[in-house]
Amino acid sequence: MELRSRGWFGKKDKDGIIYRSWMKNQGMPTDMFDGRPVIGICNTFSELTPCNAHFNDIAERVKRGVLEAGGFPVEFPIMSLGETLLKPTAMLFRNLASMDAEESIRGNPIDGVVLLTGCDKTTPSTVMGAASVGLPTIVVPGGPMLNGHYKGQTIGSGTHVWKFDEDMKTGKMTQEECEFAESCMSRSIGHCMTMGTASTMACMVESLGLTLSGAAAIPAADSRKRVLAQLSGRRIVEMVKENLTIDKILTREAFENAIKVNAAVGGSSNLIIHLLAIAGRVGVDLKLEDFDRLGSKIPLLVNLMPSGKYLMEDFFYAGGLPVVLDQLRHELHENVITVTGKNHHENIGQKQECYNTDVIAPYSSPLQDHAGIVVVKGNLAENGAVLKPSAATPELLNHTGRAVVFESIEDYHARIDDPDLDIDETCVMVLKYVGPVGYPGMPEVGNMALPKKLLQKGVKDMVRISDGRMSGTAYGTVVLHVSPESAIGGNLALVENGDMIRLNVDERRIDLLVSEEELKERRARWTPPKPAATRGYVSMYIRHVNGADQGADLDFLRGSSGSVVTRDSH
Ligand code: FES
Ligand code: MG
Repeated sequence: MELRSRGWFGKKDKDGIIYRSWMKNQGMPTDMFDGRPVIGICNTFSELTPCNAHFNDIAERVKRGVLEAGGFPVEFPIMSLGETLLKPTAMLFRNLASMDAEESIRGNPIDGVVLLTGCDKTTPSTVMGAASVGLPTIVVPGGPMLNGHYKGQTIGSGTHVWKFDEDMKTGKMTQEECEFAESCMSRSIGHCMTMGTASTMACMVESLGLTLSGAAAIPAADSRKRVLAQLSGRRIVEMVKENLTIDKILTREAFENAIKVNAAVGGSSNLIIHLLAIAGRVGVDLKLEDFDRLGSKIPLLVNLMPSGKYLMEDFFYAGGLPVVLDQLRHELHENVITVTGKNHHENIGQKQECYNTDVIAPYSSPLQDHAGIVVVKGNLAENGAVLKPSAATPELLNHTGRAVVFESIEDYHARIDDPDLDIDETCVMVLKYVGPVGYPGMPEVGNMALPKKLLQKGVKDMVRISDGRMSGTAYGTVVLHVSPESAIGGNLALVENGDMIRLNVDERRIDLLVSEEELKERRARWTPPKPAATRGYVSMYIRHVNGADQGADLDFLRGSSGSVVTRDSH
């Protein structure tokens, strides 16, 4: 098999000189261009993405492994998406970063690619891009931070932000204490160490078969993360020789396994849009309903915040994802292959010992019987909406209440703590225009903080509905991803204060209890909001973004263009 990099470095003409000579200014000997596999290391390092700021070291470890196995490592950067700083939301740029990854891989002399991923969107964006090219691909998740500790208490990224915010509002915590707690929370390299979206994404790529076994849980600061990087570097060279391309791994069965594993680990609801988008790139017809059908009956095994009590470091010590795969053995498809060329069962062997059953419960006595994502439909969400029962209050899963409507995020911020706001704990909070087109970019604002006056009364949870997302580190009875979204005229746009809304998770329904005629009249009066942008990427994004029920990818990015580029550059 002739490697695609030969189309650059193997040329005996003027183009060949150009392709090789300029690379040599980096000090590369001539024999590096002798036909050995060229491995691209896609580095999402950035100091503005603190979760990925340690990646230059990881990249060096990958290079060691590539060299040991006789490959030629070349590292390249792509747009890095950090959750904490990027406004209005990193999600707005997931598809842009995926285009960056895709074109950077396709346009360059790369035979196989290693994706260095960490903070939430850096995983789906790079996997989406790589999937649309189709080369052998392995993922090295950068690893979670070590456990946070504050005044003798274990604290988790994100999850405790919501708690501290509530404590500040109710006067239980001072600003000074809060700043001390911030330092205690983020005390090492790595991404959020709760089972938030980053950890969920790491578990997702491991369960899809895109990483070496056990990769997801290893903390960033643990020396074994470096070992994983080196071994992944060795392995990708072999994958190129075996022509083990990403499409052979990303089969329908692999996606179904990932949905089941996500339920068992109590993963983030954000998995849904990312997995749908990745499936769209490889032509697997995954549907929103598949998440409910396959995942909602899976028991919750992993006791991590935000639904549980431990953190990723504990998960690693208990045995990590291989233990979960072992416990789910009878639930998972066997006819899949992973980056090792073998399936999960072969990778983990006969039995995977669990070292702490309080952290990873056995399948026979789970933390919760049914843990996965629930998909609800009805006149309020004709294409569907999602809810994560493991983060919700059981009594609120079937609840009818009076709508308190916020017309925008600014409206919410302006009125939520107004003592005169007509709201009690039986009400249903509704937030409009926070979907992909509306915000734009579908931010994590769906878990609206409760009104201060109700928090002070001790109210812990209320039903909340929006077309936005919620942070994987958040919790509550929160109906998310309502589709079609309000900005394009979904019925969510027509909800008015005082309407009754019925959530019925048992029947998988969400309904606005308003007559068809009344809705028709309201629709006639409705005017769509002004577009969020008229130029630049954002303008393209709002014109082409698919609904959340289809993964919120850009319509023209679905599918793959393969790896062939027919023309040279000179
Ligand atoms: Fe980067 Fe949570 S902010 S993983
Ligand atoms: Mg997050």
